[in-house]
Amino acid sequence: MLQNKILIVMLAMSLSVSAQFVQKPLPFAYNALEPFIDSQTMEIHYSRHHAGYVKNLNDAVKGTAYEKMTLEQLFSKASTLPAGVRNNAGGHYNHEMFWSILTPEKNTKLSAELLKALTATFGGLENLKQKLNKEALSRFGSGWVWLYVSDKKQLEISSTANQDNPLMADVQQKGTPILGIDLWEHAYYLKYQNKRADYLEAVWGIINWNEVSDRYHSVIIK
Ligand SMILES: [Fe+2]
Repeated sequence: MLQNKILIVMLAMSLSVSAQFVQKPLPFAYNALEPFIDSQTMEIHYSRHHAGYVKNLNDAVKGTAYEKMTLEQLFSKASTLPAGVRNNAGGHYNHEMFWSILTPEKNTKLSAELLKALTATFGGLENLKQKLNKEALSRFGSGWVWLYVSDKKQLEISSTANQDNPLMADVQQKGTPILGIDLWEHAYYLKYQNKRADYLEAVWGIINWNEVSDRYHSVIIK
């Protein structure tokens, strides 16, 4: 009996090691973002939706030329990817980014450089929020809203459908995202039902500005 259990554990470990794409641990507890995002939504979102994208991505690339590619390499070939690879690669990347730019910490700060760039481009942080909210509310159906850095190193706002993102070679507005907000109803329906605007307002209260700033700097110094 014990031997069977050991074998099962070893098999599970070998499967997880061999998988190309791995879901990182959530950087906070499921209930850490209460009352902005409720615990049940976080648990379902991370352990079912995001985990599902990772599993389906690994299944979709298995035995194909895509198996050894990074997410960024896959996105550079977006227009030629099978739908299963594209959607699940996007789903994995987008959610990993989303968790990283959320935090229960209240003392995170925009860097001076990012604040300067935001002010020059949008007229300040409040204007950026308003513009992103407007973009998010005009996204019909499921998708994401982005603050990204264009190839010309300019800050830009966009939204994408489904699990697309600005790194994909065939989207209209291309660049490197530094902040992305999930607009799928699975991200907010339990607490906010159809009130996407209320969900967006809540998300602004839990943004990890340190992480957004770090992402901005890493693009700018490239
Ligand atoms: Fe999601």
